Amino acid sequence: MKIKAIVVNELGGPEVLTLSEVAIPAILPHQVLIRIQAISVNFADIKARQGQYHGKGDGSPFVPGLDCAGEIIKVGAQVTRFKIGQRVMAFPKAGSYAEYAAADEQLTFAVPEGLDIETAAASLTVGITAYNVLNRVARLVPGETVLIHAAAGGIGTTAIQLARLAGASRIIGTVSNDEKMEAAKKMGADHVINYVTEDFAGIVNSLTDGEGADVILDTVAGENFEKSLDCLAHFGRIVAFGHGNTGSLPGKVTTADLHSSCRSVLGYSTGTYRKLRPDFLQESADKVTDLLLQSKLEILISKRYSLAEAAHAHSHIESRKSIGKVMLIP
Ligand SMILES: NC(=O)c1ccc[n+]([C@@H]2O[C@H](COP(=O)([O-])OP(=O)(O)OC[C@H]3O[C@@H](n4cnc5c(N)ncnc54)[C@H](OP(=O)(O)O)[C@@H]3O)[C@@H](O)[C@H]2O)c1
Repeated sequence: MKIKAIVVNELGGPEVLTLSEVAIPAILPHQVLIRIQAISVNFADIKARQGQYHGKGDGSPFVPGLDCAGEIIKVGAQVTRFKIGQRVMAFPKAGSYAEYAAADEQLTFAVPEGLDIETAAASLTVGITAYNVLNRVARLVPGETVLIHAAAGGIGTTAIQLARLAGASRIIGTVSNDEKMEAAKKMGADHVINYVTEDFAGIVNSLTDGEGADVILDTVAGENFEKSLDCLAHFGRIVAFGHGNTGSLPGKVTTADLHSSCRSVLGYSTGTYRKLRPDFLQESADKVTDLLLQSKLEILISKRYSLAEAAHAHSHIESRKSIGKVMLIP
């Protein structure tokens, strides 16, 4: 059987996202086959399309997309936790920009009653990532100040809320335009800085009486990471978990920036956990799902496109106008 999927045959701009017919994925004994009902567009998909995401730069065609949600239509012989007809969210083996996808049981998560399928799809990557960087990597302590870059995006709007739930006393966001400032404030940020027009490190230092932020979430890297060190408090932790800047330039740090100040630089990638420690993800997925069910967390979805319009979805995010999550509905 043939299904519709977006295929990247050559790296490049949004126009390389081509609606194609491909074979329906065959499942292995430890996998499930999902009829996809909602697909999350992540910034990593754009980096993959550009050849700047782990393992997606060798020129071979691929289906982009990290996560999706839908209904199980087939289960492998070794699968024990799922059955046909069950609603799930998953990180599929090949990409999620498709009508159907195969996913390992370990990277598939039940969608409980009360949680709609679109929110489930939108929540998987941003929920687990934001939860992990704040609670497991930076180990946020109640009363701390958190600085969140790209605060109006998918990760940013989720991280603002999870930082508050973890007890942050002051949440500062940075964004590139005034519309995003409003959005980040609405999601709960105490102060939002337009870093294009203002010196964010100087403002963070003055808001914190010169002490700086205790936890900084940096997904931009490059110069942004280096400037962030100018406003990281003693004992502070900066988590490097993205290279959003144009060209994916790295940020640099020297040991002298860390030693006597007792400050730490920490790295994180949900993709690496998916590959090497998938068992680590279930607990975080459960925590996020519980918060969604209790309406303590909202995944902000601002735009929806059809699968065929994937290029428009990417262009929208790359235009720097997107707020919260952008979705594809197959
Ligand atoms: N390590 C992990 O496991 C992991 C998992 C998920 C996401 N991430 C990272 O987290 C970041 C946010 O991901 P997301 O999917 O939620 O995307 P997003 O925030 O919805 O969109 C990307 C954001 O990056 C900012 N940005 C900075 N420089 C940019 C540039 N040159 N071009 C376009 N945007 C730029 C934009 O905010 P402003 O316009 O306000 O600057 C934009 O909001 C990404 O860097 C992504 O790679 C990491």
